[in-house]
Amino acid sequence: MLVSAKEMLNKAREGKYAVGQFNINNLEWTKAVLLTAQENNSPVILGVSEGAGKYMGGYKTIVGMVNGMLEELNITVPVALHLDHGSYNGALKVIEAGFSSVMFDGSHYAIDENIEKTTEIIKIAGEKGISVEAEVGSIGGEEDGVVGAGEVADPSECKSIADLGVTMLAAGIGNIHGKYPENWKGLDFDVLAKINEMTGDMPLVLHGGTGIPEDMIKKAISLGVSKINVNTECQLTFAAATRKYIEEGKDLVGKGFDPRKVLAPGFEAIKATVKEKMELFGSINKA
Ligand code: 13P
Repeated sequence: MLVSAKEMLNKAREGKYAVGQFNINNLEWTKAVLLTAQENNSPVILGVSEGAGKYMGGYKTIVGMVNGMLEELNITVPVALHLDHGSYNGALKVIEAGFSSVMFDGSHYAIDENIEKTTEIIKIAGEKGISVEAEVGSIGGEEDGVVGAGEVADPSECKSIADLGVTMLAAGIGNIHGKYPENWKGLDFDVLAKINEMTGDMPLVLHGGTGIPEDMIKKAISLGVSKINVNTECQLTFAAATRKYIEEGKDLVGKGFDPRKVLAPGFEAIKATVKEKMELFGSINKA
């Protein structure tokens, strides 16, 4: 059964590790993340962007697929199904469809409007026991065609949003989705420390988990980060493994084009990447 992200994140915050959110894009991806979590006895969050939601045939399709896998693959570790960077309407839709966790990203609104809309989502999600992530200070880089400049959040705005009763808070601290530029200045740990101090026990979320050096990941966890999002890295390894398979002409061997065989190397590549991240984040054997 899908669970809210609340308990797993509070435990992570207390135990000084982070739960990985791995974004999913298809059946193979989903199965790879779930099996890796089970094999490593780790809690996990499946992230779904609005674009990936459309691609996979809609939110109800995803809920059906994930619930089916939890039962038929005997997944017993805690799993949350989470909307990533949701719009207000997107958040309402996934709550209706059966997701167990939702991010409402109001970071592009003025703080008052962000507070107002986040408050409404907390109320609606709360009635169903669904966890809510809010964002302050937009995360840089490109995601689903939306390019954010990458702001550093204002700690007092973070406190205002945290006090609304969100389950977890994403704060921009110079992190970027996707690959980091050569001249990237790194995460702003002074701001993270301030946010951590002002928001009490709030589990903090680090977006843009691809390409952040290991020492920075560890330092962020020590300053309250309890959830780390990874998307691009799985996309890169999946694409590289699939390309290699096809370039070697293996899709033409034997029975000819068999989608199950063509997608198998990508499945294995995602499993390896997810395991590596779980080791780095410290969530193995924390289910
Ligand atoms: P990356 O694509 O950099 O891994 O970031 C993922 C993310 O933050 C999703 O919200």
